[in-house]
Formats: sequence, C-alpha cells, structure tokens
Amino acid sequence: MKTATLPEQLIEPVQRFVAKPQKMLIAGKWINAQSGKTFPVFNPATGEAMAEVAEGDQADIDLAVRAARQAFDHGPWRKMTPSDRGKLIWRLADMLESNREEFAQLESLDNGKPLTIARAADIPLAVDLFRYMAGWATKIEGSTIPISVPYLPGAQFLAYTLREPVGVVGQIIPWNFPLLMAAWKLGPALAVGCTVVVKPAEQTPLSALRLGELIMEAGFPEGVVNIVPGYGETAGGALAAHPHVDKVAFTGSTEVGKLIVNAAAGNLKKVTLELGGKSPSVVLPDADLDSGIPGVASAIFFNHGQCCCAGSRLYVEKTIFDKVIAGVADQARQIKLGPGLDPATQMGPLVSDEQQRRVLGYLESGMAEGAEAVTGGKRLGDKGYFVEPTVLVKTHSSMKVIQEEIFGPVVCAEPFTNVEEVIAKANDSIYGLASAIWTQDINKAHRLAAQLRAGTVWINCHNIFDASLPFGGYKQSGWGREMGHEALDLYTEVKSVCAKLS
Ligand code: NAI
Ligand code: MG
Repeated sequence: MKTATLPEQLIEPVQRFVAKPQKMLIAGKWINAQSGKTFPVFNPATGEAMAEVAEGDQADIDLAVRAARQAFDHGPWRKMTPSDRGKLIWRLADMLESNREEFAQLESLDNGKPLTIARAADIPLAVDLFRYMAGWATKIEGSTIPISVPYLPGAQFLAYTLREPVGVVGQIIPWNFPLLMAAWKLGPALAVGCTVVVKPAEQTPLSALRLGELIMEAGFPEGVVNIVPGYGETAGGALAAHPHVDKVAFTGSTEVGKLIVNAAAGNLKKVTLELGGKSPSVVLPDADLDSGIPGVASAIFFNHGQCCCAGSRLYVEKTIFDKVIAGVADQARQIKLGPGLDPATQMGPLVSDEQQRRVLGYLESGMAEGAEAVTGGKRLGDKGYFVEPTVLVKTHSSMKVIQEEIFGPVVCAEPFTNVEEVIAKANDSIYGLASAIWTQDINKAHRLAAQLRAGTVWINCHNIFDASLPFGGYKQSGWGREMGHEALDLYTEVKSVCAKLS
C-alpha cells in the first residue's frame, strides 16, 4: 500500500513511529496478527492512509486474554506491593510527561484535533489521571464490620471486607480522545491490580500503541497490559464476549453499548459503559454573556463537537435569545479550520469520512425537517473531513437533530420562557451525560442543578474535567462512573471475611 508523506513539521520520533509497521502487544511481546492482516490508518486532514497496523481479531483477542489471565492468576503482578504498583503507574505518568510533545503530535495527526488542544488537554489530563490513580494504589481498603448474628447469641466474630481486583478487564476505547480515554480506563484498573486487554479504536490506534511501549519500558510485568488494535465487530466483539474476561469497560456509541451488554451476558461479566449524550446548555436571563457566549460556543465546538458531553442543545431564555445566538454564530464564524498540526488551526477535520458523512446526514435531515442554519451547515473544502461549525435554529423536540447525538460541530438552539419549561426540555432526552447552567444567581443555579437528570452539571463552565471528579451518565448515557474513587469501586470485588472466634 502506498502511504502518504507525513506532514514535515512532525518531530523525528513521531515520523519514525508512524512509519514503522505497528504490531500488537501480547504477553510483553510485539507481534503480528495471527492472520497476518493489517489495516490502514488515515490522516483525517487529507484522507490519505499514513500507517499500517496489525489487525487483531478473535484469535489475537484470545491470545491476549490468555496472557492477561496468566498475568492475573500466576504472574508477579498480584504479589507486588500496592506501593510498588503505585510507583510503576507514577513512573508511566512521568514517562508520558517527558514524551508529551511526541504524544501531542501523534494524537493531533491521528485524530485531527488541533495540536494546541492535544498539548493543553489530552496529554496533561492523561498524565494527571495516572498520577491520581497511582496515589490510590495504596488506599484500596476494606472495613471491619461489627456483626450481630441473631441465631447465635453470645458468639463473637471478626468480620471484615477485602477489596480485590475484579480480574481480567477488556477495555474498548473510542477515537475522540484516544490516549485520554485509554488512561481513564487503564489508570483505575492498574491501581487496583487488574490485568487488561485494551482494544483501541480502529480510527486512532497510534497513541495507545506508543503508550504500550512506555508501559513495557516502565517495567510493568508481561501480560498486565495487552493491546490489540482491530475493528469493533471483530476484535471488540470478541473481547466483550470472551468467557475469561471478568469485566468489560466501554466508551462509544449507545448502540454499541447495548451490543456490549448482550455480548457480556454469556459469562455475566461486569460492564461499565460511557456512552452518548445530548447535553443541554441552559442560559438564564441573568447570565454573564461576556463569558456565557464564548462558553456555550466552546461547549459545542471544542474538539469539533466530538465529545460525549458536548453542549449540543442550547436553551436560551427568550428575551436574550437573539443576542446569544448572534454571539454564538459570530464565534462559530471566527473559528479557523485547518489541519490539526497547523499552529493557527482552532478546529481540525472530523476523525473519519464515516463521521463526516454521519454529521452531514444530520445537517441534511435537520434542514429537511425545517431547521435553519444561522451559520455553517455544510462540508468545508473537498479534501479531508472538515465540517463547518454550525448553529441551527427553528428546531423542535421531535426532530432527529434534537433527539440523536450528532457528534460534530453542530448546536441546536431553542428559546424558552421559564425555568419549569427549560427543565422539562433539558430532561427530555434518552441521554443524561452532562449539562450546563449559565446564571449569576447561585440559588437558581443549585436548584436547577438538582433537577437536571445528568451525571455532570457544570455551572458557568463546560468541559471541565479532573481525575478526581467522577464522570458518567444517567439514563442511556451509561453505567457506572470513570475517574474519582467511584471508578475504583467498579474495578474491584468486595469479599466479606467472617471468622467465628472461640
Ligand atoms: P462505536 O461505538 O462504534 O466505536 C467505539 C469503540 O467501540 C471502537 O473502539 C470500536 O472499534 C468499538 N466497537 C464498535 N462496534 C463494536 C462491537 N460490535 N463490539 C465491540 N466493540 C465495538 O462508535 P463509532 O462508530 O466510532 O461512532 C458512532 C457514534 O458513536 C458517534 O457518532 C458518536 O455519536 C458515538 N461515540 C461516542 C463516544 C463517546 O465518547 N461517548 C466516542 C465515540 C463515538
Ligand atoms: Mg461504530
């Protein structure tokens, strides 16, 4: 296959990494797919293939699960002290930080996101997540429980709980924040002592593979982390269904989330899901619009709207609707689109031609159902997967563009009259991932926060993430939470130990 010339501004380690044939990491070794197959990875700014990656399927997943099982059941990992486990995770964070420019360029190249965003958000957040979870390794505690057994009067017991790693975990990663989503999943799994098989998204496998090199260099025992790139239906499906996997953690579409649940039923493995969203931004009449207008614009346009928590529904009180919409449209028009690696770029291409087609399909459907684009509304240029930042008005709750996740730079704006009405509108969704309230009235803000059915409520901000702050969805936005100590609970089992004292 003819691969494209890489952008010349890439530093040499990235050039070298992308040019070499990418293998998979199983039991500490980099190997080809059992089938010998490879798949191409495309540069979303040009649409050209730029790397070749080993294509894992059921046979490779099977090998990887076996390696993870062996490492969990018999390897040195389970015997390692929590302190040593924490040190290894911390070392990985240090190594990632030392190589941050390489990872930022790799992420920008592979996903299309602006290099400035990868530098400011993706990489530092991943480093911080590993450090936060490294600290938890020594704090996974059970409790002692005073029991009162009614049918054995006078008997004495010592009862306590142990928190043990759930076992072998399959982790299926999306393409919107490839490294960071891998970190969100790997961090807690490693902190508690699980072993892992990671399946990166087929669109963006490069940073996870490079992370795999650092993981081995850091000194993690073989088989603790295995990385099998490949397609969703084959590699991902095999991992979700595998009888020797104890838990599967997935981030991606709600549609595939349901397939994962079905696949997991065979051995009733534990499941956590971080799925789609249709997150409302609510702007009350007393909001500070100087920060609110750029705030709600960034809520949708950050990372091209390819965020599960993107503020894709914008509800503005009717007396300030025109002003806010004009302001957001103005912000949209000023965004400079270009290749992620161009320093002037503020919004890159979407990740793939499939995603571009999907987003353009939604725009078409919205217009056909009567929506109007105040700005944007179409593809930009004829090379790469660019879509104009778009503000749609005249939408209503029965339209597909309001009901379904678009996952592109498209916001649907509607006016509202009073708080009761906007609460009903905001909650009128199968999703419940995130939401935002813009107001200067703290009483209204917190009253409203309690009424929104969403896993995150931002007040006068959006897209604020921290390793210590749990993130996840109500309703069809998912099961469980990532980050914070809540994530750790979902990677552990509780064992009750009860001793009768004589
Ligand atoms: P997807 O849900 O198909 O892919 C996400 C991950 O799941 C990838 O690693 C993929 O290989 C894997 N996968 C796909 N089918 C699978 C299966 N049958 N079994 C196991 N694993 C499977 O998402 P896709 O097709 O890339 O994007 C479709 C829509 O999903 C987007 O438009 C967006 O609405 C949503 N999405 C949401 C994300 C989030 O952060 N919550 C991330 C990515 C996509
Ligand atoms: Mg898909």
